[in-house]
Amino acid sequence: MRLEGKVAAVTGAAAGIGRAIALALAAEGAWVAVTDVNQAGAEQVAAEIQAAGGSAFASRLDVTNPQEIEAALQSILEQKGRIDVWCNNAGVSTMNRFVNLTERDWDFNMEVNAKGTFLCSQAVARQMMRQEVDRQSGLRGKIINIASMAGKRGNAPFLAHYVASKFAVVGLTQAMAGELAAHGILVNAVCPGYVQTSMQERELQWEATLRGISVEEVRQLYIADTPLQRLETPEDVAKVVVFLASSEADFITGEAINVNGGAWMD
Ligand SMILES: NC(=O)c1ccc[n+]([C@@H]2O[C@H](COP(=O)([O-])OP(=O)(O)OC[C@H]3O[C@@H](n4cnc5c(N)ncnc54)[C@H](O)[C@@H]3O)[C@@H](O)[C@H]2O)c1
Repeated sequence: MRLEGKVAAVTGAAAGIGRAIALALAAEGAWVAVTDVNQAGAEQVAAEIQAAGGSAFASRLDVTNPQEIEAALQSILEQKGRIDVWCNNAGVSTMNRFVNLTERDWDFNMEVNAKGTFLCSQAVARQMMRQEVDRQSGLRGKIINIASMAGKRGNAPFLAHYVASKFAVVGLTQAMAGELAAHGILVNAVCPGYVQTSMQERELQWEATLRGISVEEVRQLYIADTPLQRLETPEDVAKVVVFLASSEADFITGEAINVNGGAWMD
């Protein structure tokens, strides 16, 4: 097991990609704090991990709320004394033509995706800077941000506000990586493509309505846009997060790794 003895936390881990990341980190031996604004969902995922023989703890955490971030971090520290891996996964989307986007669309996407990543990362980085260096790696901790293909490819129909929020996450990843490297804190991002989750189900509906075609036709557009010719699974993303969390990635920082079946290459 690649993460034996490590203390990890995942935001937005009650569903979709976050759930898969929490399960995958735990399967590699990490103790995982499963956090989400949906507390019941987080508890379910933590129970799933425990049923599989792993170690997990569930906590409510709205990434836009500094008090909840601090409280979740404190309860992790009370139990484990340190945090080795923090995955900023929580995210939201809405869809509309650029000219019809509302201030509410903009604020909601920026608030959760960009500001939530900033608030959590700042609290976590402050804690990691206080921690002892890990003897084997010489590192104090790792922050892993789930950005998006939309964090690199601006040409994403109906998602201008989401694109802006995810470009922000990629930029923040690089800026944090640069500043925190001297403290032994690595910061990387993962950029998924068309992942089968409840977010995608909602987007399929919205895009079908906006284009005036069926949900199935939109799904086929996503597959046609993916050279590997299938939709991505949450597990495709989780595997790369495990890699970044593991010692195999101890000299990687400031990267935004594409995991999208070739849908966007750069
Ligand atoms: N699904 C995709 O195709 C796709 C592609 C690229 C990137 N992403 C990104 O991956 C991440 C996960 O997306 P998903 O598809 O699993 O979405 P999802 O909607 O299926 O799950 C998101 C989870 O985040 C939680 N959440 C929402 N707002 C929160 C908040 N303020 N605080 C804490 N938790 C909150 C939700 O309760 C939910 O459990 C997001 O950052 C998303 O932008 C998704």
